[in-house]
Amino acid sequence: MKDLFSELDVAGVRLANRLVLPPMATEQADAEGLPSPATAGHYGSMATTGVALVVVEHSCVTPEGRASPRQISLASDAHVAGHAAIAAAIHASGALCAAQISHSGSNRRAEMPGRCLGPSAVENPVSHLVPEEMSKNDIVAVIRAFGAAADRVHRAGYDFVEIHCAHGYLLGEFLSPLTNHRTDTYGGTAAGRRRLPLEIVEEVRAAVHGDLPLMVRLGVADNPPLLQLYEGGLTIAEGVEAARALDDAGVAILDLSAGICGSRPAGITGEAYFRPFAEAVSSAVRCHVVCTGGITQPQTAQEIIENGTADLVGVGRALVADHDWVRKAREATSH
Ligand SMILES: Cc1cc2nc3c(=O)[nH]c(=O)nc-3n(C[C@H](O)[C@H](O)[C@H](O)COP(=O)(O)O)c2cc1C
Repeated sequence: MKDLFSELDVAGVRLANRLVLPPMATEQADAEGLPSPATAGHYGSMATTGVALVVVEHSCVTPEGRASPRQISLASDAHVAGHAAIAAAIHASGALCAAQISHSGSNRRAEMPGRCLGPSAVENPVSHLVPEEMSKNDIVAVIRAFGAAADRVHRAGYDFVEIHCAHGYLLGEFLSPLTNHRTDTYGGTAAGRRRLPLEIVEEVRAAVHGDLPLMVRLGVADNPPLLQLYEGGLTIAEGVEAARALDDAGVAILDLSAGICGSRPAGITGEAYFRPFAEAVSSAVRCHVVCTGGITQPQTAQEIIENGTADLVGVGRALVADHDWVRKAREATSH
């Protein structure tokens, strides 16, 4: 029987149970994006909670793709040692780990240096910045940067690499009709809008020589289920098509969240608010799916696994608030 505390094999990697710590930025890096020893300490401590997989917060793949002044980075080889310390701290408690790699596009703080890039020169509804429309050369450079960052993830000793394609950051901006008005092959149609994420998946797979299973944090829709906050945004149907294409491209885990409305949409409360995304995606793909968002009760997590709504459950804020959450969940679900 599918159970919250049953093992899961993912592309040759065995997860001890179905619980995942989703990526949550700690914003503790220095000016160069080097993780501080406190960051490794934080992740080491979160790994002791008993989750099977810790997804480390978003690291930028280039300096101009950095969202905020204290975000950690994987934009150069100088960042590998700090990440190796994070991976080792997580492995010390027997958990596995993923590093999330990201380009912020135009969803970054206004004071960030360097060119502000996006698919089209239209206002980002989250940051309200208007980026420069990326040229073909800019696109090629970003694809290469994701590949180089993935190689660093591999060298740092992580078990998985996760590509960030959600929350109004660059790859989510490409997916969304609100921010992608391109008429070339990287826009125009829903298939055109998902071309860049798919090309990055190929580049990342080649960079890790197929050694690390790939995860994608996918913003399934720009609006939360049953609410219309952003008129004309990415629809669930288009998000499911993107999920299918990523599945066909060999992604091992789709880590679901939302697009432009973000991971914690304004006014949304209650348990498992993105469950409808997981239901729609799980029935359309063969790869594994993570359901995250407002899960606080062990019973909710157990139901999501038992019903096959998702293969894995992300518990973020509830686990940060209570490091005993997993142990209590094991008791509550009578193990
Ligand atoms: C402080 C904080 C930082 C976050 N940073 C990231 C991030 O770096 N990458 C990402 O994909 N999601 C990020 N998220 C979203 C979480 O991964 C998660 O989807 C969200 O918190 C909802 O899950 P929860 O209700 O279990 O906390 C962040 C959330 C919080 C609260």
